[in-house]
Amino acid sequence: MKRRSLVSGVICISLSSLAMPAFSMTDKKMEKKILVVYFSKTNHTKNVAETISRLTGADLLRVDVVEPYPEAYRPTTEVVKKELEENIIRKIKAPSVDLSKYDVIVFGTPTWWHHVSMPLQTWIKENSFKGKTVATYNTDGGGGTMHTEEDFQKLLKGNKLLPHMTIFGSNDDQTAELSKWLKEINLIK
Ligand SMILES: Cc1cc2nc3c(=O)[nH]c(=O)nc-3n(C[C@H](O)[C@H](O)[C@H](O)COP(=O)(O)O)c2cc1C
Repeated sequence: MKRRSLVSGVICISLSSLAMPAFSMTDKKMEKKILVVYFSKTNHTKNVAETISRLTGADLLRVDVVEPYPEAYRPTTEVVKKELEENIIRKIKAPSVDLSKYDVIVFGTPTWWHHVSMPLQTWIKENSFKGKTVATYNTDGGGGTMHTEEDFQKLLKGNKLLPHMTIFGSNDDQTAELSKWLKEINLIK
């Protein structure tokens, strides 16, 4: 009899641990399921995405280009300028994802010639998530927000937009700035 109740106790414990959410909830995280979708060439925007994920428990989705841009900065700026002027859409690749399971999508982009980077714009145009709550950020090289916030407003018409965040592009620890923003937009307590 005693042995049986010990066994059922063990089963109860393992079943309750199976029912736990995929990420462990600390007192700072909310119950919301968040996805960060970002494009990043030199990893500044990726760094921010990873910090947001650490602070909120968000999943990450990196948008990439099929044909890579040049390695160096200046040639990249020239190639991108030409793409913008001639409206050349470079093919993107990204893991497919069931967007219906997310409450909030956060979009992150580097500023490219004052705007949201084309690869992220392409992902937004190719995917459907109308009506969803979205937050946006850009990482910059000194120019600040430029046209990125208004680009996002146009691209994300039909969504509930939370206040935009501009953060200087860096691989430094930006936890303090990001947690301030995430608290303001109610993604962490
Ligand atoms: C093609 C290109 C265009 C850029 N245009 C701007 C710009 O208009 N304003 C600005 O502040 N920074 C600009 N930058 C700098 C990036 O926005 C900045 O370094 C950003 O943090 C890079 O993010 P990533 O490392 O995620 O790619 C540009 C960089 C590239 C490669």
